[in-house]
Amino acid sequence: MRPQLNLLVTLITLFYSWNNFRVTQADPQTRLINKGCSQYNATNLSNFYQNLNATFSDLKSQVGNENKHFATAQSAKGANPVYALFQCRNYLSNSDCAACFTVAVAQIRNCSAGSNGARVIYDGCFLRYESNGFFDQTTLPGNSMICGTQTANGAAAFTAAAQQVLMNLQTATPKITGFFAATKTPVSGTGNAIYAIAQCAESVTQSGCLDCLTVGFNNIQSCFPNTDGRAFDAGCFMRYSETSFFADNQTIDITPFLKQGSSKKGAIIGGIVGGVALIVIILIALFVWLRLYKKPKRHHRGDILGATELKGPLTYRYNDLKSATKNFNEENKLGEGGFGDVYKGTLKNGKVVAVKKLILGHSGKMDEQFESEVKLISNVHHRNLVRLLGCCSKGQERILVYEYMANNSLDRFLFGEKKGSLNWIQRYDIILGTARGLAYLHEDFHVCIIHRDIKTNNILLDDDLQPKIADFGLARLLPEDQSHLSTRFAGTLGYTAPEYAIHGQLSVKADTYSFGVVVLEIVSGQKSSELRDDADGEFLLQKAWKLYEEERHLELVDKTLNTSDYDAQEVKKVIEIALLCTQATAATRPTMSEVVVLLKSKNFVEHMKPTMPVFVNSNLRPRTDTSTSTASSKSNATVSTSVLSAR
Ligand SMILES: *[C@@H]1O[C@H](CO)[C@@H](O)[C@H](O)[C@H]1NC(C)=O
Ligand SMILES: *[C@@H]1O[C@H](CO)[C@@H](O)[C@H](O)[C@H]1NC(C)=O
Ligand SMILES: *[C@@H]1O[C@H](CO)[C@@H](O)[C@H](O)[C@H]1NC(C)=O
Ligand SMILES: *[C@@H]1O[C@H](CO)[C@@H](O)[C@H](O)[C@H]1NC(C)=O
Ligand SMILES: *[C@@H]1O[C@H](CO)[C@@H](O)[C@H](O)[C@H]1NC(C)=O
Repeated sequence: MRPQLNLLVTLITLFYSWNNFRVTQADPQTRLINKGCSQYNATNLSNFYQNLNATFSDLKSQVGNENKHFATAQSAKGANPVYALFQCRNYLSNSDCAACFTVAVAQIRNCSAGSNGARVIYDGCFLRYESNGFFDQTTLPGNSMICGTQTANGAAAFTAAAQQVLMNLQTATPKITGFFAATKTPVSGTGNAIYAIAQCAESVTQSGCLDCLTVGFNNIQSCFPNTDGRAFDAGCFMRYSETSFFADNQTIDITPFLKQGSSKKGAIIGGIVGGVALIVIILIALFVWLRLYKKPKRHHRGDILGATELKGPLTYRYNDLKSATKNFNEENKLGEGGFGDVYKGTLKNGKVVAVKKLILGHSGKMDEQFESEVKLISNVHHRNLVRLLGCCSKGQERILVYEYMANNSLDRFLFGEKKGSLNWIQRYDIILGTARGLAYLHEDFHVCIIHRDIKTNNILLDDDLQPKIADFGLARLLPEDQSHLSTRFAGTLGYTAPEYAIHGQLSVKADTYSFGVVVLEIVSGQKSSELRDDADGEFLLQKAWKLYEEERHLELVDKTLNTSDYDAQEVKKVIEIALLCTQATAATRPTMSEVVVLLKSKNFVEHMKPTMPVFVNSNLRPRTDTSTSTASSKSNATVSTSVLSAR
């Protein structure tokens, strides 16, 4: 008897110490789950690496010295800013977390030199960097799962139990501070247990966390009845396994978080223990849940693609915007314009935004109008339009908050510090994207929005150098008689259609005209308003018409472009479209959706050829004096009227 008991005790001790050994042994869990590198390279490698190294060493110190399991860092000096985020699963020890970080950094640097964004996801941790703020992102295309290869014993019972476990985690985790939960749940009748975790990035919102885990839960379904599964996304991670992957004392009781909110379901399930009844109820609940939630969530995933539900703009607190922009510090200023100054701001959650302080009058009816217009504009979603995130009103102050574009505006790439860095394909894509954005504003949104101020500084470029039109709808926010309209008009005369400049006749074709001017600037790398030595004293538009009529249009092309880089036919087509857009009579200009079709068509329709050049007299010179009064810009307009009637 005694030896047998001894053996049993030894066996039990062995089992326990083996089990303990397994979970307490240092294990940074560096099995690679997913990896991705941006196909785009940073424009200035030395600047990029300075920023990348700075953010990594910041993260390293937060993880290694301050023992954080979640950290963000950013270094935004120069043209290639870097934003980085690191997160360990909460159950990892501090040293395992630091070890996982070291592996992740080595791996993420393995992307092709200069890749401007990358991510690596391990069982134990997650590292990502991008060239703009992404800390609040939750679900993105590319979300997926990785499933184990073994099927669990008692597949049906296992599946039902695993589904319930993960559904509970999905419900509870967003409500738990720190967005992390780990559970161990026995599978009835098998003696096995399901170990599961869910985690969101700490920088997302509660509803963002829920959205992300909902997608994860849907993805991980396809892993059942296998013994292991993991779902990953930009803002969250979910994993279940029949094998323990964290210490038992890391689990938390999530039942309190299931009761509030989705009350009935949680209470019923909590009250019944084990057996067939549980499975039946789980299946019914799952069915109901899928019916209720699956559709809207799918819809939500569409957000990434641009289709979104209608909702009001966010209202930001003035003090939050003030601290985000360091009290509207000059240092943070991104630019200034007729409508107001724009500042770069970093919100508390790490999200970087562009904050525009509007210059408004003191008209009483403004408030109501402002809110309804902001609501209208914030519902305009298109990948070629800068997104308005929200607004803020305080006293006379009106502030708009936009998504931030790290690459800044097109004029910098054409005439500024990055001059000559765009190749022909990039230029063509910018032209097409801008046309699409305008076509959407004019024709596809339920209210026709005329931009009125299309110019290269209002076209921003995203990380992939895709254009996004800024400041659309702003004119709607301002009373017609505001004096700055004439100031602005004078300031960007080089882009303004003659009928609008002279008679104030406004139609979508005024935008078409400005677009045409922008296209010529993109092709030539020359400012429409600039008189250059090599231009024989002509403005860009005059020069373009002259060269076109003499069939010397290729001479217009930016000298920084290599002739081998572009197709002469395509360049000619683009120039012809630009000239069509800038014809004197509004009626003969194409609509923006026609422009999109023309740009995409291989063969240029012969009868669409531009035939009526605008004779831009050099008297119609853009004024650099932006404080021009209405009266003097009228007198200027009189001169040009005679020019036009001379046609
Ligand atoms: C690249 O970045 C470095 C450091 O930020 C800067 O000194 C250098 O002028 C930049 N080079 C170019 C070509 O912009
Ligand atoms: C950045 O770090 C990498 C790896 O540690 C190093 O090879 C590189 O020289 C560093 N670059 C800069 C600009 O500090
Ligand atoms: C980086 O990639 C090379 C081959 O492309 C591979 O040999 C090396 O192991 C990789 N390094 C890491 C840390 O994954
Ligand atoms: C980025 O740079 C790598 C080499 O470092 C090159 O192979 C790749 O083609 C570049 N990608 C782009 C989009 O220019
Ligand atoms: C959890 O259990 C492990 C041993 O399994 C022990 O080393 C650790 O200190 C425990 N942690 C807590 C917070 O009790």
